[in-house]
Amino acid sequence: MDKEIVNKSVYDILVNKFVAKYGVEPEVVSYAPGRVEILGNHTDYNEGYVLSAAINYGTFFAIASTEGEGTEAFLTAGDVMEEATFDAAAPTVSREYMWSNYVKGVLAGFNKLKPATRGFKAMFLGNIPLGSGLSSSAALEVAAGLAFSKFYGIEVSKLDLAKIGQKSEHEYAGVKCGLLDQVSSIYGFKDALVWSDFRTFDIKNVNISSDVCFLMCNTNAKHALVDGAYNERRQKCEQAAAYFASALDHPVTALRDVTWMEWLKHKDDMEPLVAKRSAHPIGEDDRVLTAIELLRNNDLEGFGKLMFESHASSRNYFENSCPELDVLVDGAKAVPGVLGARLSGGGFGGSVVVMVKVEDADAAAVALRNVYANKFSQRCDIRTIKCSEGAHIVK
Ligand code: GLA
Repeated sequence: MDKEIVNKSVYDILVNKFVAKYGVEPEVVSYAPGRVEILGNHTDYNEGYVLSAAINYGTFFAIASTEGEGTEAFLTAGDVMEEATFDAAAPTVSREYMWSNYVKGVLAGFNKLKPATRGFKAMFLGNIPLGSGLSSSAALEVAAGLAFSKFYGIEVSKLDLAKIGQKSEHEYAGVKCGLLDQVSSIYGFKDALVWSDFRTFDIKNVNISSDVCFLMCNTNAKHALVDGAYNERRQKCEQAAAYFASALDHPVTALRDVTWMEWLKHKDDMEPLVAKRSAHPIGEDDRVLTAIELLRNNDLEGFGKLMFESHASSRNYFENSCPELDVLVDGAKAVPGVLGARLSGGGFGGSVVVMVKVEDADAAAVALRNVYANKFSQRCDIRTIKCSEGAHIVK
């Protein structure tokens, strides 16, 4: 073990459980963080821009060889201690253990590079709340991918690792996600944001003043048909890109190529719902680029305003917000020290990210909890997020 481990207690619990269950020490342990999306909603699969960060919560994945020959695999979810068994050389989608599909999909990606020649015992454990919009599934995919890469001796680039995770979501979990979650988890920077261009895959760190921090407010709301709604939004964006490709006199391969002025000019000629949905990623790209400039000038108030605008765009154009998220964002506007707030991630539930002055953060968390409890008679869980380094091998 070569460096300080973020979430050391989770690591210790995992190793103890692993040894108790399998009777051997893990040979490899990897770690991958969750992510927070700061600005740039549903832009990744439109080849646009996102500002995000890897967070100080994540997932560890531990693995050791099985005795003897064969490719039988044992995979345990360390929180519930359920075990899935399957053939490492031919992992198939499981209806019984849905959680295992993220790992199986990643393994299938590695099998394409080099078929598995030995079996394994593996276990994972993390501290990202499930369904909170902090990308627990991407953290699991990335942690599993790093572990398989080391365990099977298959080298992959960071970007290819992200793509293997994404493919697992598409083919084993049925969500046609972009690459934001995996990229943020892999490339994360300590104390800095990740700025990604999802066309060129130019990925950079962007500094942000230590006078502000981010709170994640998990509404614990998860509305039905989340995955179906996500895929439907993506489809509408693709329809819009196809429209603009035929209507504009410059090449359009994705909504990234369309400006806000072009949208304004053409919106009334398009199918109304397609026009409405496409306004969101087009506007978000502009907001991310403006935000980068504002951060260069340390204009945190301006940055916060863009976060509020982003949420309004989600609510009005993309309709991927919900009452729980709206109440927190609206409530945040009146909380002292809060500069901006918006939904983070896919939407339809999950979390709100709030940018707040450090000295006001504790009081703001109390105020936001009250706003939520007064409206819904339920708790929302609020955590301070630290921008953290990306996924790595721990052992
Ligand atoms: C989810 C997806 C990402 C991205 C965001 C919205 O987190 O997994 O690929 O599309 O929603 O920005």
